[in-house]
Amino acid sequence: MNKRGGNRHAGITAVGHWVPDDVLDNNFFASYLDTNDEWIVTRTGIRERRILREGATSDMAVRAARIALERRGWTPDDIQLIICCTVTPDMLFPPTACLIQEKLGAKNCWGFDMTAACSGFLFGLETASRMVESGGYDRVLLIGADKMSAITNYQDRNTCILFGDAGGAVILEPVAEDLGIMDSYLRIDGAGKEFLYMKGGGSLNPATAETVAKGWHYVYQDGKTVFKRAVVEMAESSAHIMERNGLSAKDIAYLVPHQANLRILDAARERMGLAKEQVMINIDRYGNTTDATIPMCLSEWWAAGKLKKGDNIVLSSFGAGYTWGAILVRWAY
Ligand code: UT7
Repeated sequence: MNKRGGNRHAGITAVGHWVPDDVLDNNFFASYLDTNDEWIVTRTGIRERRILREGATSDMAVRAARIALERRGWTPDDIQLIICCTVTPDMLFPPTACLIQEKLGAKNCWGFDMTAACSGFLFGLETASRMVESGGYDRVLLIGADKMSAITNYQDRNTCILFGDAGGAVILEPVAEDLGIMDSYLRIDGAGKEFLYMKGGGSLNPATAETVAKGWHYVYQDGKTVFKRAVVEMAESSAHIMERNGLSAKDIAYLVPHQANLRILDAARERMGLAKEQVMINIDRYGNTTDATIPMCLSEWWAAGKLKKGDNIVLSSFGAGYTWGAILVRWAY
């Protein structure tokens, strides 16, 4: 039995991501709202974000998945399980995983959606890796994709500047015991439900003309409250996973934080004692893409040739719920 409690290790063996071409820069918001480029850059680190004008989350997911499959040299029929992490499913049901399966033409799999807000990909990675470790699955497609523009109120300067649209995908399969998903520390706290949510459209407040008039189909965030908790939990969970695995800053190749605010990423980096080059940051180009941020970073850094087999990589996140945590990955390919 290994440290994860099983006989097998699961690792990421391919990555892919896709973003729409349409760019919204900060000046776009300054042209009609009381905001400006300087405020947005200094308070968030965001310079621009991508917007999907036509289509839905599944379209971005499928494009990212095809890239990951092609890089691995697999066809859609090789996939046994699709897990789609998203807060912007194409519809409440059927599962977006089914729509992705059909668009890919994957004939030998089952799948489901996972919703854990900005920690979705991390929670999905834990779930997918456990499926592989259990011996039940050898080829899992894990997707993090969100069309945040579909639930963003472009008249609310508190939130509209933050979000972008994107899709990321990874493939998980069995790897050698000293590689892959090494450890995870994940937590939830429902006390966070008051500070970051989409109030309408669920069973509590089904969509009506009234809920729409009140804007309950948009993201609401009490930014300052979420910020304070995010700084603590992301920094502490990242440091915790590093320390309990006997790793110091020099042993870490990269921290891959969920990209919500540059100041939160800086706090996590400082708590871990890392240099700036050890942190993957793309929030300046894409904003907060919720479930897509982490796989997208991995895909970009892999494509740039910056990841090496055996690299220790800490993934960490914080999001609505609250949901948060960190996963230690030893890069497998
Ligand atoms: O991804 C899931 C988890 N989410 C997070 O981790 C996000 C956490 N929160 C944040 O990133 C930050 O709180 C924000 C970027 C959302 C906001 O930054 P802040 O420094 O916390 O600003 P604030 O909300 O405290 O607002 C400060 C001031 C307010 O004005 P008053 O009340 O002091 O007069 C806001 O109305 O800045 C104002 N403000 C803006 N001003 C210019 C808020 N948004 C804007 C804006 N442009 N876009």
